[in-house]
Amino acid sequence: MDGLVQGKVALITGAGSGVGRAAVLLFCEHGARVVAADINGANAEETAALAKAAGGEAIAVTCNVADPASVDAAVAGSVESFGRLDIIYNNAGITISPVPGKGLRSLVECAPEEMKRVEDVNINGVVYGCQAAIRQFEAQGGGGVIVSTASVAGLMGYGGVLYGATKGAVVQLTRALAIEVADKGIRVNAVCPAGMLTHYAGMDPDSEHRGRILEGMGKAHPLGKAIDPRDTASAALFLCSDLASNITGVNLPVDGGLFAGRKAGG
Ligand SMILES: NC(=O)c1ccc[n+]([C@@H]2O[C@H](COP(=O)([O-])OP(=O)(O)OC[C@H]3O[C@@H](n4cnc5c(N)ncnc54)[C@H](O)[C@@H]3O)[C@@H](O)[C@H]2O)c1
Repeated sequence: MDGLVQGKVALITGAGSGVGRAAVLLFCEHGARVVAADINGANAEETAALAKAAGGEAIAVTCNVADPASVDAAVAGSVESFGRLDIIYNNAGITISPVPGKGLRSLVECAPEEMKRVEDVNINGVVYGCQAAIRQFEAQGGGGVIVSTASVAGLMGYGGVLYGATKGAVVQLTRALAIEVADKGIRVNAVCPAGMLTHYAGMDPDSEHRGRILEGMGKAHPLGKAIDPRDTASAALFLCSDLASNITGVNLPVDGGLFAGRKAGG
């Protein structure tokens, strides 16, 4: 049986870790040829090697999404290696660095250079990815799919004010861009995960306390089960597939029901 993205060429950013690595492996399992892009080239190489060892077709590129020339080069790399680009998954993202020993940094504790660093990756990085992909999609005669990783923090107050603001920007960009490019046959959607145990924000997925951490994360959601990076990658895969051929402008929560609300009195 064909995979959900059989024969498609997909560029996935932030592919060296967490959701991006899970997405490279999953998209390859489903028949895509994948460009695994990350600012950490060695980790991107490791992801591509894992995908190939599992029978997939993947190449690695070093790419800083905050640099438009670097993003253009990654798209050019896709065309050079695989002849085209059908899907871009703008997944790379960072958060405001925590205050050591205290956790999340409040808005007034955020320095301008730190704000700029996060905005450059989380907002501009997605914009550059969309621009480069749309140019390539148009050169191929139209069609194409864009998916980005926003966050449930872009849909609701969820801790981390500036981070949430950058993800809210991705949510709104997704809606507005979906309208702008609909007549070119390009679909634009985003996935909005709740907290996952990845290398993100200084967390350690290999921690000896992994079980306890996941249990705590699960308790934050009505479904009671921590979100796995593969859950988010699966939602992105669905949105990239033809199963979603009439879905655009959607910001899909992957949050165990968190954004739906809570029980009365809960
Ligand atoms: N982990 C969570 O709790 C959580 C929750 C909601 C949303 N998200 C979002 O999910 C996405 C993936 O995060 P993750 O949890 O897999 O984190 P992660 O830290 O495990 O992986 C992020 C990857 O992005 C790469 N990256 C960072 N800056 C980059 C840049 N400028 N250019 C290219 N690559 C860059 C990193 O090297 C890393 O490999 C991010 O957009 C993040 O904001 C994460």
